[in-house]
Amino acid sequence: MTETDLLNLTYSNITDARQDMSRLLQERSRHLSLPRSLYNDPLLFRVDMEEVFMKEWLFVGMTCEVPAAGNYITVDIGQNPVLIVRDRDGEVRAFHNVCRHRGSRVCTGAKGKVANITCPYHQWTYDLKGNLIFAGSDMGDDFDKSQFSLKPAHCKTAGGFIYVSLAEGEPPAIDDYLATLATYMEPYDMENAKVAAEVTLEENANWKLVIENNRECYHCSGSHPELLRTLLEWDDTNDPRATPEFLALCESQSAKWDAEGIPHKHAEFGLRNRLVRMPLKEGTAVMTMDGKPACKLNMGRIQNQELGSLRILHLPNSWNHMQSDHAIVFQVIPVSAQKTLVTTKWLVHKDAVEGQDYDVEKLRYVWDQTNKQDRTLAEQNQRGINSLAYQPGPYSKTYEFGVINFLDWYSDAVLKNLPGTAQ
Ligand code: FES
Ligand SMILES: [Fe+2]
Repeated sequence: MTETDLLNLTYSNITDARQDMSRLLQERSRHLSLPRSLYNDPLLFRVDMEEVFMKEWLFVGMTCEVPAAGNYITVDIGQNPVLIVRDRDGEVRAFHNVCRHRGSRVCTGAKGKVANITCPYHQWTYDLKGNLIFAGSDMGDDFDKSQFSLKPAHCKTAGGFIYVSLAEGEPPAIDDYLATLATYMEPYDMENAKVAAEVTLEENANWKLVIENNRECYHCSGSHPELLRTLLEWDDTNDPRATPEFLALCESQSAKWDAEGIPHKHAEFGLRNRLVRMPLKEGTAVMTMDGKPACKLNMGRIQNQELGSLRILHLPNSWNHMQSDHAIVFQVIPVSAQKTLVTTKWLVHKDAVEGQDYDVEKLRYVWDQTNKQDRTLAEQNQRGINSLAYQPGPYSKTYEFGVINFLDWYSDAVLKNLPGTAQ
């Protein structure tokens, strides 16, 4: 435990922490930020990990990152190393990246390609469906390999996105969202996309502060000059602040999108998922400094470069902007009560050639700046919350309804999973 963790440790054991978390969430005011301990206490963070990140569906990567049989990526979800690999039938599968011999992490890199999955410790070898196929000759005649397959994790894909759940039983229902996601992503043909750039920022802030910051644009005018060259601050056509000019722009753009068969209408699945295509500022095509496309090739079957941005929200750990020439996906992975990893990937058509069809610096500039600005905001938010002076403050119902929605989702997700909530 770090020194900061010790300073913020309110609970002496996890049972007390779980009970108190349940009480804090049931008693919280929906229109106030959370009590301090929910943002910085290490044991309450452990409850977040156990009840949200070990049970809900998490965005872990894109199918084009595992384009062929044997391609894999890895991600650590809390203490749990996870391996995502494409098998020889083309299916993307997820496993606990933990050897069934003595528990070593099996695939040690962030990504790679293998014929089979071999543990570096004693070379136990698994096929791409996780079956143990080699354990040497030293395990004895009665050793039954079929009992030692890699443990699977729930894994589903749609529209190029890969979601994993570490739930031991049945994970939350997600198929309705995935069917809609596949429809909205069809124009992008994400199997034929590639990651052109990727960055992971380590942020000294609780994961909920990272998501809260993303769920409102109240802070945009004060912090994001690059983003606001193209982004319109309204969240949706039903945004209470929407002006008649904005609504007229939405209407004229959506008529063009309809003509091209580009899905754009608002769709939501509880508070967890939301999809909507929103126009960017008139005269701009994508989120670059000059608003012009960053890549000469459009994605998939797209013709019209002024597609605005298809915004896709997946709680608890992802938001995304799909544009005409490139897509930007974001993944949030908590590390500790006050440390969070935020990974951003920029994707383009797989045939686009760097330096010829796109310039990486131009492609990533706006969101690189925006991410750094957001990191500073989340970290300063955390530092203030750690102070004795902090007390939960009011969210604006007009500007911060997205934050309220996020915390309602979070609170419900934790409370439904917390056993003994009524104690
Ligand atoms: S721990 Fe993997 S082969 Fe021994
Ligand atoms: Fe921001």
